[in-house]
Amino acid sequence: MNEDPITSNEAIKRADYAREKGEVVLREHEYDGIQEFDQKLPNWWLFTLWAAIAVFLTYYLVYYTLDLLPSSKESMDQRVTEIEELKQAELQKLLESMNDDTLVNTFSTNPDFVAKGKDTYIQNCAACHAADLGANGGMTGRPLNDGEWAYGSEPMNIFKMILHGTPADSKGYKQGMRMAPMGGAQLSPEQVAQVTAFLIDSNPNDFKSYKK
Ligand code: HEC
Repeated sequence: MNEDPITSNEAIKRADYAREKGEVVLREHEYDGIQEFDQKLPNWWLFTLWAAIAVFLTYYLVYYTLDLLPSSKESMDQRVTEIEELKQAELQKLLESMNDDTLVNTFSTNPDFVAKGKDTYIQNCAACHAADLGANGGMTGRPLNDGEWAYGSEPMNIFKMILHGTPADSKGYKQGMRMAPMGGAQLSPEQVAQVTAFLIDSNPNDFKSYKK
């Protein structure tokens, strides 16, 4: 049987360490019959090792030691702030274009606007106020078709009440529950305007005096 040149140990050079690229040596020591090869690491391998170390050191220096670039938390906070500002600006713009007159005579007479408001209502409000606005049975919300508006019956009062929820000193309704801003949903100011337009459209008698 031919002896394998690697395992036969004779064919292969013995040395402390490999000294040249590509050279394979068998190291001098042997423990319990276990021997160890050695060869120089290829350049591509060394390159990735040193590159990884360099990237880590640069990263550590830039982010932690010198604090030159914002951390991911800081940039997320920054984006959240920007979004908040955009929302505020949108609300501001909408509020400037809105008053009792536009809510009743422009928004609530726009079928597309009212239809979107109805969709929003069914998805976010009907659970507490009922699809038919009656809030009957054990529902927690106030009826929205009984001609009574506990927090002011002017269209803008209703818009603001939905936007901000019921006032902090409100005693709530049946179960003593107050309403969270937008009923606890995440709506844009425009969606709140649409839902208000839907409520106005559904209660024509309550807003007759604003009609032109
Ligand atoms: C988790 C239940 C709940 C949800 C969801 C909810 N509401 Fe309410 N809503 C209430 C409660 C409770 C009150 C009465 C709170 C109070 O009087 O302090 C109320 C009161 C109101 C009022 C005042 C009614 C009146 O007679 O003065 C309006 C308007 C209203 N909600 C609209 C909405 C709209 C629009 C939505 C959806 C965007 C919505 N609600 C979602 C529970 C809810």
